[in-house]
Amino acid sequence: MTGYEGEAGLALARRYEAVSAPDLHGPVADLLPSAPSRVLDVGAGSGRDAAWLAKTGHAVLAVEPSATLRAEGARRHPDPRITWVDDRLPDLTRVGGRFGVILLSAVWQHVAPPDRPVAFRALTGLLAPGGLLLISLRLGPPDLARGMHPVSVGGASCACGRVRPRDPPGGAAAGQAGPVRDQLGHRRAPGSDMSLADVYLQHRVHLLERQVSILFETTRVLNPEAGAELTRLERAWRAELDQLHAAFLRGDLAHFERREARVRGGG
Ligand SMILES: C[S@@+](CC[C@H](N)C(=O)[O-])C[C@H]1O[C@@H](n2cnc3c(N)ncnc32)[C@H](O)[C@@H]1O
Repeated sequence: MTGYEGEAGLALARRYEAVSAPDLHGPVADLLPSAPSRVLDVGAGSGRDAAWLAKTGHAVLAVEPSATLRAEGARRHPDPRITWVDDRLPDLTRVGGRFGVILLSAVWQHVAPPDRPVAFRALTGLLAPGGLLLISLRLGPPDLARGMHPVSVGGASCACGRVRPRDPPGGAAAGQAGPVRDQLGHRRAPGSDMSLADVYLQHRVHLLERQVSILFETTRVLNPEAGAELTRLERAWRAELDQLHAAFLRGDLAHFERREARVRGGG
């Protein structure tokens, strides 16, 4: 497992264990079931979150592809309610049954963008009816030495439906019923941290991304020799989407202006 084995893996385990699971997952802790459930922790790392969930009575299947982290996790958290499995996204071929909660804490960046629809289908297929899928995102430049890919909130929320920010804009007001306005005075969608305009755009982008994915898939089937070239084009397209999103998060208007000039110039 690139970057997660041996001494490097042990050093990372020490870093993960220095973080408190209740603090880290506090913003979503109210969503967790109070009754003991089956929980799947994918990319469980040092077992910090698995141990926290097991202590509250859940039976945790901790999936971790790094042999170093699996051994270190089992050593640090010898809880009989935790079972360790060597498996990985996107397919999770060794995981069966249904889970009330599936947690991916800082793992999605390890799934290559073309594999994300497969991974998402595998995860939703493992969810019990009414189950909870929690995915935390690692934003910022990907660490290529650890096999990471770019992640954007837009891409993930298009795939997964809803994103809960760590610090809801508008503070406590964001959780209240009734009209809430963002810093620009735009009305937010009820029960959401996004403006209606954002929600509308998100749905349009989702539809368009789906159309483009279907076009890539169909062209691949009709013209198998073009597979490598199509994958290259699809990666470039997704990278551009991620760059746009990163520019939006940075408030980098110049990025959009440069892009517009390029598009107008036929680039
Ligand atoms: C940044 S660490 C996060 C660890 C832990 N979830 C946490 O929050 O402390 C990413 C973890 O994902 C694991 N990982 C990498 N690629 C994976 C994949 N394809 N499927 C599942 N886990 C993966 C790594 O071995 C590592 O343990």
